[in-house]
Amino acid sequence: MGYIGSHVTSLLLQKGIEVIVIDNLDNTRLEVLDGIESITGTRPIFKQMDVCDEHNLKAVFDEFHDIGGVIHFAAHKSVSESVEAPLKYYDNNLGGLQKLLKYAVLKSIPFIFSSSCTVYGQSETLPISESEPLKPPTSPYGNTKKIGEQIIEDCCQAYEGFHAILLRYFNPIGAHPSSKIGEFPKGVPQNLVPFLTQTVRGIRPVLRVFGSTYDTPDGTCLRDYIHVMDLAEAHIASLDYLLKNQNSDSCEVYNVGTGKGVSVLELINAFEKATGKKVPYEFADPRPGDTVAAYADASKIKTKIGWKAQYSLEEALKSAWEWEKSLERIE
Ligand code: UD1
Repeated sequence: MGYIGSHVTSLLLQKGIEVIVIDNLDNTRLEVLDGIESITGTRPIFKQMDVCDEHNLKAVFDEFHDIGGVIHFAAHKSVSESVEAPLKYYDNNLGGLQKLLKYAVLKSIPFIFSSSCTVYGQSETLPISESEPLKPPTSPYGNTKKIGEQIIEDCCQAYEGFHAILLRYFNPIGAHPSSKIGEFPKGVPQNLVPFLTQTVRGIRPVLRVFGSTYDTPDGTCLRDYIHVMDLAEAHIASLDYLLKNQNSDSCEVYNVGTGKGVSVLELINAFEKATGKKVPYEFADPRPGDTVAAYADASKIKTKIGWKAQYSLEEALKSAWEWEKSLERIE
């Protein structure tokens, strides 16, 4: 029921699929359920519990016998925090995954895993395809994604009938077009778009653009920003693909991105164009550990699963701004 999970939940409910949400509310708010209900007219079944809590997890799988798919989002995601508190990340991100896998494997339930383009590090080739060799992760957070992928691959090899898809997200941005759900960053946002929208709203004095002399067309980093609604659709399409047994391997991996590399300055310009708002920004030193350029070769998911991004960058940024304004009314 976090940022991405809430959008996927809304789409599933709108398609008439029953959803059981498990969340410990560590990094989200109970009001997200109200947002989902007002979008879809349905409230998902909600279990407030930790995915690492095996006793309660077993109770959920005992109570609901006909779970058709598991989509696993529950993970900590701050790169910097993971460097300071690696055990918190290994415990939660990998502990939760292993507990959940136990039940998914037991009942051969199709499994979708939230991975990240962070597993590629600074790729030698651009755009990055799934066959690109993975680099050693630069943070414990990145390592949990890489190890998580390996654990799932091992399970798919070992347990016949257990099938999974690993989705390597590029940079998710934006919010639901209704502005009823979106991202709630905890404290000072680390990611570009929430920091930018908070700056425009006056909560932060200025957006610092990390690095201006990179070897890119305008000197700022390139990323592949994907609308969270498109990303949510990619989960639905992947689950559908597994449920229809269209997969050729028991574990398949897909990039989820637009395929376009966008610089920080291009994103700022697109935001200004989409919203008519000026972004106060200044150039700052590069952020340690930042990758210069990362954007997806998104052809595999299109060919095999039939998904491709539909929203433009401007639409994504406009929705991020509408969401930011709606938070003003809540706070
Ligand atoms: C980061 C994580 C990635 C994670 C993703 C979650 C790293 C190395 N990667 O990706 O593992 O999955 O978040 O969304 O941390 N920028 C600024 N000023 C800011 C903030 C960001 O210029 O105040 C720039 C960054 O230098 C980067 C771009 O904006 O070029 C995007 O940054 P961010 O949103 O933090 O995402 P990533 O670093 O790509």
